Amino acid sequence: MKAFQVLFVLCLNAAAAEGQSFHPGSCPRPSVQEGFNVTKYMGTWFEIEKLPAAFERGKCNQATYTLLADGTVNVRNAELLSNGKINSIEGVAKVKNASQPAILGVSFFKGVPDAPYWVLSTDYQSYAVVYSCSDYFGLLHIDFAWILARTRALAEDVTSQLRAELAAAAGVNLSRLTVTKQTGCDVMTRGMVSKTKTGEQV
Ligand SMILES: *[C@@H]1O[C@H](CO)[C@@H](O)[C@H](O)[C@H]1NC(C)=O
Ligand SMILES: *[C@@H]1O[C@H](CO)[C@@H](O)[C@H](O)[C@H]1NC(C)=O
Ligand SMILES: *[C@@H]1O[C@H](CO)[C@@H](O)[C@H](O)[C@H]1NC(C)=O
Repeated sequence: MKAFQVLFVLCLNAAAAEGQSFHPGSCPRPSVQEGFNVTKYMGTWFEIEKLPAAFERGKCNQATYTLLADGTVNVRNAELLSNGKINSIEGVAKVKNASQPAILGVSFFKGVPDAPYWVLSTDYQSYAVVYSCSDYFGLLHIDFAWILARTRALAEDVTSQLRAELAAAAGVNLSRLTVTKQTGCDVMTRGMVSKTKTGEQV
């Protein structure tokens, strides 16, 4: 019981320090993209807006998904730090239950439980709305959300529609959403091109 309490307080403190907030009760269960096709979802997505996440610190945030032969997905997240360096991390995503293909689990570190990755909606070609939520002891939950696009900018009317969807489907407090800076990202694009070329040669 003591260990439980200590862990609980540590979690709360860590989250509070990073500007994330816990919410009472357990995670909402928003509906997800019907007939989700993971193949069509592959490729690069740029972050337009998000709920603040401790693990993201830079700008030009983007994610590149590549379907592997075993049906799992290689995930490469990258961002540009203020010192001009590209920070990137690779992980694995997989559909855990074939009858719910829009619900994936993403893991960046071996031995760490994977994080939920729910594709609430996407047209595959321009936008995607992604939601993630973890329960803590059935008492509290912490949520993450991303509005993604195939380009570094998305029309404002589309973005506001996607915001409304996050609020309606997952109860996201829209005043917590932050806009991701997607200008001055040329160095990221060059990095992507060379990465793609390497991939093609393999
Ligand atoms: C998923 O999309 C790919 C690429 O467009 C297509 O070849 C495949 O048939 C689709 N799968 C299903 C189940 O619709
Ligand atoms: C997979 O999802 C279906 C439909 O929601 C559910 O009935 C089934 O129990 C799930 N299977 C597992 C192993 O969780
Ligand atoms: C929504 O978030 C804002 C900014 O964090 C906060 O001031 C406000 O109280 C929140 N509203 C609700 C209903 O939680």
